[in-house]
Amino acid sequence: MTGATGTYHWPVMVSEVLESLGVHPGGTYIDCTLGDGGHSVAILEAAVGPGPDGMHGRLLGLDADPEAIVATSQRLAPYGSSAVLVNTNFEHLEKTAASEGFTPADGVLFDLGLSSRQLDAEDRGFSFKRPATLDMRFSAEGELTADRIVNEWPEEDLANLIYQFGEEPKSRRIARAIVRNRTITDAKHLADIVGRASGYRKGRTHPATRTFQALRMGVNHEIESLQAGLDQATNVLDEGGRLVTISYHSLEDREIKRFVVGSERLKAVVKKVIRPSKAEVERNPRSRSAKLRVAERLKPETDASRDR
Ligand SMILES: C[S@@+](CC[C@H](N)C(=O)[O-])C[C@H]1O[C@@H](n2cnc3c(N)ncnc32)[C@H](O)[C@@H]1O
Repeated sequence: MTGATGTYHWPVMVSEVLESLGVHPGGTYIDCTLGDGGHSVAILEAAVGPGPDGMHGRLLGLDADPEAIVATSQRLAPYGSSAVLVNTNFEHLEKTAASEGFTPADGVLFDLGLSSRQLDAEDRGFSFKRPATLDMRFSAEGELTADRIVNEWPEEDLANLIYQFGEEPKSRRIARAIVRNRTITDAKHLADIVGRASGYRKGRTHPATRTFQALRMGVNHEIESLQAGLDQATNVLDEGGRLVTISYHSLEDREIKRFVVGSERLKAVVKKVIRPSKAEVERNPRSRSAKLRVAERLKPETDASRDR
């Protein structure tokens, strides 16, 4: 799929992201999930001009996937030193922001999950439509692959993972079928086995969607990374700075909500989630499950007064 700007991935809820981040000329922003750079370009366009103090806006873009950095660095080249890209997991957000001179930041964005480029890649194993090796790592640094989970883990551990990270009610039946059909050679092979075992009819959502989500989340330790990323985002934000998250399934959304509600340093700006418009979902069906949340970094006095 080619995005509106001739790039691969269609960025989701771009105007809502800009408004929620409160992007202004001269501001300092961090995009923790650079991907194809759709949100980053929009942020830079709105921020790069000089602010009232004459300073130009800047953006730090992070991505765990080296291919995303390579693909996007050319797109952001026209912004020169206003755009700094780093290939790292957002688990290292605080250290990276400090070393690149991006603290305190006016806004931090997380657009979670994977990009259309990754989903459609022939060799990454994210898509159930392709006979690709079951890899699913965002970065080749990790040792755990989907192949190892699927072909080596005990049935019970596999069932637990599919249940926990996929919220798949038929996890036990699916895990049993996977173990019986070992060795599973590729992503399409796995999708066919899961499809048959689940008994789900093919509809708008593929019967293997939850299982694939669970494997990807397990391989990339996504919930742990998200917890670390949100905590560090809170540390790098300036007072009044905005934390904007877009999540695509309920596990992530619950984690974000729980984090913001439990944080003494953040307050939710919008209580309910922001969803894409009907027109956007029609244009870009992959946006249909997106949920955007916005929180603001409280002033330190407020932190202190809460402690008393
Ligand atoms: C939905 S895409 C982002 C798309 C982007 N907003 C755009 O407009 O093109 C998510 C990106 O986040 C990256 N990612 C996922 N988890 C990450 C993590 N823990 N640390 C760094 N990057 C991560 C993925 O590699 C992917 O490129």
